[in-house]
Amino acid sequence: MVDWGALKEIEEKIRSCTKCPLYKTRTNPVPGEGGFEKEILIVGEAPGKNEDLQGRPFVGRAGKLLDDLLSSIGLSRKDVFITNVLKCRPPNNRDPTEEEISACSPYLEAQIGALQPKLIVTLGRFAWAWMCEHFGIRYRKLTEAHGKLYTSSTLFGSYRIFPTFHPAAALRRKEILDLLREDFQTLKAVLEGL
Ligand code: URA
Repeated sequence: MVDWGALKEIEEKIRSCTKCPLYKTRTNPVPGEGGFEKEILIVGEAPGKNEDLQGRPFVGRAGKLLDDLLSSIGLSRKDVFITNVLKCRPPNNRDPTEEEISACSPYLEAQIGALQPKLIVTLGRFAWAWMCEHFGIRYRKLTEAHGKLYTSSTLFGSYRIFPTFHPAAALRRKEILDLLREDFQTLKAVLEGL
């Protein structure tokens, strides 16, 4: 059962967060959003320019591709909750630093706790590495790990993680786009088996 009250409190904490220097350069924090009807959590890397301007996740070109991928397997934003490892945009979309990730991690941990997702889909290497570290999954490069289901049993329950590539990487390289599309078909089969 989703604890929407807890989720709202996390969002408010994110909105006033000053735990790392990114709050100084952000326009808006991007806590995450979605209807979560199918209890799927999607985790990206960090807000980009458009997300920072609108305060909403995946609203630029990568977001359009994500919408398209979701619709290719009969899903839409009402079915999923979308967030990122970092809630604020790194300047010029540079990679997140270790310090930023560790400062921001309690928010994603709390969101996972409040949502209790049936499945977590990670987009890109930062979200996959985050899950490996937090759920005790042996880290393998995304090129080897993508498109498979990983299960982690913790004291607080069992979590299912499905890593795939980041849509922004797929916009740069056709081979990645093909793999991403294939992974979404695998994801569809995984969801049917849950
Ligand atoms: N890329 C991400 O990782 N997240 C967003 O919200 C947008 C682009």
